[in-house]
Amino acid sequence: MNLLVIGVGYVGLVTATCFAEMGYHVTCLDIDQDKIEKLKAGEIPIYEPGLEEIVRRNIKNKHLQFTTDYQSALEDTTICFITVETPMGTDGNADLKFVRQVATSIGTYLNSYKIIVNKSTVPIGTAKLVETIIAEQLELREVSLEFDVVSNPEFLKEGNAINDFMKPDRVIIGSSSERALSAMKALYSPFMLNHDRLIGMDRESAEMTKYAANSMLALRISFMNELSGLCELTGADINKVRKGIGSDTRIGHSFLYAGPGFGGSCFPKDVRALCAQAAAYQYEMPLTSMISVVNKRQKLVLANKIFRYFSEIEGMTHCTIAILGLSFKPDTDDIRESASLVLIEELLEVGVHLRLYDPVAMNHTKKAIPPSDKIYWATDEMDAAEGADAVVLMTEWKQFRYLDFDKLRMLMRGHAFFDGRNQFNPEDVAKKGFDYISIGRSPLFANAYQENQVPVSEYAP
Ligand SMILES: NC(=O)c1ccc[n+]([C@@H]2O[C@H](COP(=O)([O-])OP(=O)(O)OC[C@H]3O[C@@H](n4cnc5c(N)ncnc54)[C@H](O)[C@@H]3O)[C@@H](O)[C@H]2O)c1
Repeated sequence: MNLLVIGVGYVGLVTATCFAEMGYHVTCLDIDQDKIEKLKAGEIPIYEPGLEEIVRRNIKNKHLQFTTDYQSALEDTTICFITVETPMGTDGNADLKFVRQVATSIGTYLNSYKIIVNKSTVPIGTAKLVETIIAEQLELREVSLEFDVVSNPEFLKEGNAINDFMKPDRVIIGSSSERALSAMKALYSPFMLNHDRLIGMDRESAEMTKYAANSMLALRISFMNELSGLCELTGADINKVRKGIGSDTRIGHSFLYAGPGFGGSCFPKDVRALCAQAAAYQYEMPLTSMISVVNKRQKLVLANKIFRYFSEIEGMTHCTIAILGLSFKPDTDDIRESASLVLIEELLEVGVHLRLYDPVAMNHTKKAIPPSDKIYWATDEMDAAEGADAVVLMTEWKQFRYLDFDKLRMLMRGHAFFDGRNQFNPEDVAKKGFDYISIGRSPLFANAYQENQVPVSEYAP
């Protein structure tokens, strides 16, 4: 069976590659000519563990091809995925400009029955909208052709995308057509050999399921972040609380980690989009709205801890700070809405010198932030720490999991370590001569280590 994937970004390239790996012939289409030329040459535009090897293998065995030409790509395809971006619009809802463009192009070149599968995260009612746009184009062309529009939201996680796609927890198919639903079941059957995890439903429920899932996960993170501030004030430890509640099977351990605020291309925009959709119906969602409010505050927590620390010691003048991790999470080069970007902006504003390092997201960050003579782009974590007054861990890349604190201490000018991911044991780090400040746990100071921790209220957000 021939498949077409329109929009070759994180979701599109992974979708196309995984279907190709299962034996399908997949054409990837994008309007970005440069991206397509690079892909044809086996150059992967994103960092995703394991992806490059599978893309190259499937280009070689001709299961994967790339084009910018809608007409030829649609000619002998039966199932056509839409995987274009749906960024936040001015009203907070998803901007459907790219989805509309794709629907118009499909309507312009449709030549036989096709199933149009929407994988982009889109507001409830978008399947109907895509259907209407395609039907309008067909009417303009004065042709009558059958087609179905299906909703198939994607749940892959960047950094683990191949595994998520190959072994999905579930595949949601929203369809109003039995014909399309059975074709989708057949399409996904190679991924369901263990047991059937395909859930069929109406298109609106499928579209809502994606927003509900992301908002629920974001809610858990914001709740833990909110709780972490109270932990600091009361002397409780958010890590211990996490273990205590996560062991309740009704709650579970996932997405209970306090940190510097969630980022990425999905959670922030999807939570906002859900609220915007509710607002369009004059329906208030106070709980969901507060997820973004809490997250915005959380993104300032580390900057505020740094300001407080240095104002109590020597002030921020001539201060140099190393930031480890720029991507919004490990194993991806995606920096969209990353908490590191907020921290960089806050620190540059007060004239701090920055030494930045990330294993893969350096190039994206260089393009995303204005050039500054106050920024040094380091070659590794130790290079970043050289001469720094403080090191801030922002992304929990595996290579930062074991840090040689003795070496770090020798290279640094100061001795402050801000752990935005609660990766380390405070006592271990303080014993190495660091003032250790994390999220939702009492700070531990090197010189106070033998005696007592500093009063917890001093470092509350
Ligand atoms: N990134 C994730 O982890 C993730 C996970 C699940 C769902 N989603 C959703 O999937 C969708 C895609 O996200 P992404 O991160 O892959 O986006 P992306 O920005 O990485 O890629 C989108 C691609 O679509 C292309 N495109 C835009 N208009 C086009 C057109 N008219 N014709 C052909 N190509 C076009 C762009 O050039 C780009 O290459 C979004 O709705 C997102 O919310 C993303």
